[in-house]
Amino acid sequence: MKILLAGATGAIGRPLVPRLVEAGHEVTALTRRPDRVDALDAAGAHGVVCDVIDRAATLAVADELRPDVVMDQTTSLPQHYNARKMWKFYEGMVDLRLRGTPNLIEAAQRTGARIAFQSIAFMYAPGNGDICTEDDPPYERDAPFPWNLALPAIVALERRVVDVGGLVLRYGMFYGPGTHFDTGQIASDVKRRRMPIVGSGEGRFSFIHVDDAAAAAALAVERGTTGILNVVDDRPLPMREWLPAYARAIGAPRPLRVPAWPVRRLAPLAAHWATTLPGASNARARRELGWAPQRPTAIEGFED
Ligand SMILES: NC(=O)c1ccc[n+]([C@@H]2O[C@H](COP(=O)([O-])OP(=O)(O)OC[C@H]3O[C@@H](n4cnc5c(N)ncnc54)[C@H](OP(=O)(O)O)[C@@H]3O)[C@@H](O)[C@H]2O)c1
Repeated sequence: MKILLAGATGAIGRPLVPRLVEAGHEVTALTRRPDRVDALDAAGAHGVVCDVIDRAATLAVADELRPDVVMDQTTSLPQHYNARKMWKFYEGMVDLRLRGTPNLIEAAQRTGARIAFQSIAFMYAPGNGDICTEDDPPYERDAPFPWNLALPAIVALERRVVDVGGLVLRYGMFYGPGTHFDTGQIASDVKRRRMPIVGSGEGRFSFIHVDDAAAAAALAVERGTTGILNVVDDRPLPMREWLPAYARAIGAPRPLRVPAWPVRRLAPLAAHWATTLPGASNARARRELGWAPQRPTAIEGFED
């Protein structure tokens, strides 16, 4: 298949490119940075400089390639951020989703390609049990700030992708090379004891190692999967369980514990994640892709 891949140089794109190439696909990989083209070519893809916010440039690449699949694996999230200013963290992402992803959807539609879009599995609304399936409702406007501003845009894009027969890959929380758990903010916060277990610590995080995510994404594209797919590991972990395990794995001190009420006031999204976040089920991905994560839970993965 001819695959037009945006986000080829990011945390998920890096392990995805070699998988797609090894499977025999012709991968045209977009980057905004000319200095990254050689590495993409060396990985077996065909690197092309293109900013997906530039509609004309994006459509021109697609028109020339006539791809079978357009994959949007772009993100725009800083490696470092201030947990009290989470709106800043999501600002670039929302801009990219509002101004870049629609160009990729249009590029797919006018060339008759399928579209596959990167979303998240940690946005299910509480109140539907500890483990949600793809059919459970995501949080939208009633989500804690600043998600009440970011999620409606993401959910609207998901609906658009599903409506045109595309695939939405709802990834769990990434860990592994190039992620916030590697050298990013979470690693440095935990090393400095700046990420405490909040309140009950019952919020359930669905994780996925970036290699496992790439394996599922490659299979889903190959099999022509459509609709929404959670790409998460086998067992969502409550914060009170994963945070001490992660701290141990990276040689950090034991995390502190703090009550939930001040965090709810200062950082409502962090409080939700720590106390009421539901996990996600990978039953559909396992069943329909014949896929299983190599690291069944993040506890094993962190130790790796
Ligand atoms: N599910 C999750 O937990 C999840 C999902 C995504 C990201 N993250 C986290 O966010 C952090 C950053 O991850 P990341 O690897 O995705 O970020 P990154 O290294 O900044 O990569 C973003 C990717 O999107 C591409 N991109 C962004 N804007 C673009 C544009 N306008 N046009 C074309 N391409 C564009 C970038 O390409 P160029 O820069 O080469 O142009 C790059 O390939 C990591 O800590 C990661 O774990 C987590």
